[in-house]
Amino acid sequence: MNMKYKVLSALLGACCLSTVPVCGQPKNSEGAPSAENAVIETIYARRSIRRFKPQPVSRELMKIILDCGINAPNGQNRQSWEVRVVDNPEWDSENIVRRGFFNAPVMVFVANDPTYPFSQIDCGLLCENMMLAAQSLGIGSICVASPVRAIRQSPALLEKLGFSEGYELLICVGFGYADQSPEAKPRDPGKVKFVE
Ligand SMILES: Cc1cc2nc3c(=O)[nH]c(=O)nc-3n(C[C@H](O)[C@H](O)[C@H](O)COP(=O)(O)O)c2cc1C
Repeated sequence: MNMKYKVLSALLGACCLSTVPVCGQPKNSEGAPSAENAVIETIYARRSIRRFKPQPVSRELMKIILDCGINAPNGQNRQSWEVRVVDNPEWDSENIVRRGFFNAPVMVFVANDPTYPFSQIDCGLLCENMMLAAQSLGIGSICVASPVRAIRQSPALLEKLGFSEGYELLICVGFGYADQSPEAKPRDPGKVKFVE
């Protein structure tokens, strides 16, 4: 069994053995997210990471994360995204974007097809799938828009990314081993309402 299927079957096993809550946020007695369901636990555990260890992430793990990304739901299965992965620390030798990625060892660039109206949603779902998969594998992540501006002003970097004609760089995600454990930022449950 290759690494990918070992990891995927471990994740699947964890999900199958768990109890799926039917409503509300599962909490333990301390009010912390419950560990009863691996997916739910992963969602609550993920936080934006802004300090990474220099330790690289193996391509084997990155391939699993990227494959989870492209398995996201997407409009009409058009897969209206293109993804470029940079794990070579020398790639951005002029240090144009690394700071925007908080020096994450892996920089992922996601471009969308602007001719498809739901393309940005497709790309967002792809990114979230990757970030949750990474979290489940012990790898931290940060979704960042700020490098997009820098890259748009650097035709050389844009050319190196090599997106197909018609695709536009939309959003970026950095991956690496977290060197911090940020607290969850508050969310407003009032934004969600059941409508009778
Ligand atoms: C579309 C998008 C763009 C973002 N851009 C940046 C960014 O440029 N810089 C940054 O530090 N964080 C950025 N973030 C991360 C958000 O600030 C973060 O997700 C939010 O504060 C909630 O925190 P959490 O991810 O820890 O739950 C971005 C997130 C999203 C979804």
